[in-house]
Amino acid sequence: MIRSLSIVSGLILFAFITTHLLNLTLGIFSIELLESSRPYFFVLWTSFPVELLLVLALLIHPLLGLRSLYFRNTLRMSGQDKVQLISSLMIIPLLIPHLFAIKAGEQILGIAPTFTGFLAIMWIDLPLEGLRQVLLLIVVWIHGCIGLFTWLRLKAWWSAVAPYIYPLAVAIPTLALLGFVEAGRDAVTRYEQAQAGGQYQYGVSAQIENKYQNLYQDTSELDSGEDSSVELSPQQFAASAKAIDEVKWRVILGYFLLVIGVFLARFIRLRKYREKVEIHYANGLIISSEVGPTLLEIAIQNDVPHANLCHGKGRCGTCRVQIIKSSSTLTVPTKLEQAMLDRLGSPADTRLACQAGPGPGVVHLHRLLSADVQPDCLHPCADQEGPECPETNEVTSVDKKGEAV
Ligand code: HEM
Ligand code: FES
Repeated sequence: MIRSLSIVSGLILFAFITTHLLNLTLGIFSIELLESSRPYFFVLWTSFPVELLLVLALLIHPLLGLRSLYFRNTLRMSGQDKVQLISSLMIIPLLIPHLFAIKAGEQILGIAPTFTGFLAIMWIDLPLEGLRQVLLLIVVWIHGCIGLFTWLRLKAWWSAVAPYIYPLAVAIPTLALLGFVEAGRDAVTRYEQAQAGGQYQYGVSAQIENKYQNLYQDTSELDSGEDSSVELSPQQFAASAKAIDEVKWRVILGYFLLVIGVFLARFIRLRKYREKVEIHYANGLIISSEVGPTLLEIAIQNDVPHANLCHGKGRCGTCRVQIIKSSSTLTVPTKLEQAMLDRLGSPADTRLACQAGPGPGVVHLHRLLSADVQPDCLHPCADQEGPECPETNEVTSVDKKGEAV
């Protein structure tokens, strides 16, 4: 359930961002095309049920992300997992200023949320905002692509479509950035021309002294039919903008405190684990750890190669181990684990290393698949000789004294 919620909410966010970036791509041609096509790209997202779904996804997905951070037993992880985690923590603080600019800007300051206005602000007045936006785009895209890749590579059809998807994964953000740059340069040129000629192309020249205010007004004037009903004097505008900025920083600070709180809670949760567990691999290797982490996490902590194609999410089954014997009580299989073991038709002594956490004692186990297992062996074709999942050549049986032989 939690896994499905995480992937569904991630997919909704990814779909929204993809639409947004495809729209931005049209900035390569002209600001006018970028702006006039905006309603078509956003038509789906502005209907009430879909917008509600998007907001829910934006709330649920990060919360599930923080939950998974809390339950992480080790911060030692693969490079891909590190990028996924760090990017996930960066998204909210990078996104908050954008959300505030759109929502509070529209409802309090009366700034219509148009590309033109945002481009003018980011390229002329607040270039750091432009940089933040570029960073947000890159970070979100990398994060979403890693999430999708980790999930999709387990699907039987992935290897057939991957050659078409990989170029898209690079082309979409690259073209969107090009659109942002081209349209931004256009905005700057128009602004400079307007300043030189005394006539501002977006329709505002009278108040050029108050550039900040002008740019906002430019935006709503260029934006056909989206004039805001909010009318503020320059003083009111400045005071409201300052107040919004303060709230924005408080929300960002609140988010950082929440993340620190999750790390602290995780630290306290792990502190109670002082007892030790010893893992004896069938090839003779012995490692030990404090109890708490799963068998897979203990392997990763100790640099023991262990197959884990889905990065410990219980979706691939490649981390499965045979428990040869154990004086340690392992955690009871969750529904997720049991469903996977049933699907694989595994015998009762098999466990998913990424889900099973050992208690104090000694566990003798056999890693069933080799660490270099590839996704295509998960779906061998029925009518063709598909690749077999490589097994480890560790011994699997125990003698009468319970020693691995
Ligand atoms: C807003 C802040 C976000 C946070 C804190 C966050 C956090 C996370 C975390 C921690 C994971 C790994 C889940 C796990 O290990 O169980 C994850 C997965 C994922 N994220 Fe995000 N994410 C955020 C935003 C996004 C956005 C904007 C997108 C879309 C581009 C996205 C798409 C995905 C996808 C597709 C997955 C894979 C889901 C899965 O495997 O269950 N995330 N996210
Ligand atoms: S790593 Fe995929 S199920 Fe355990």
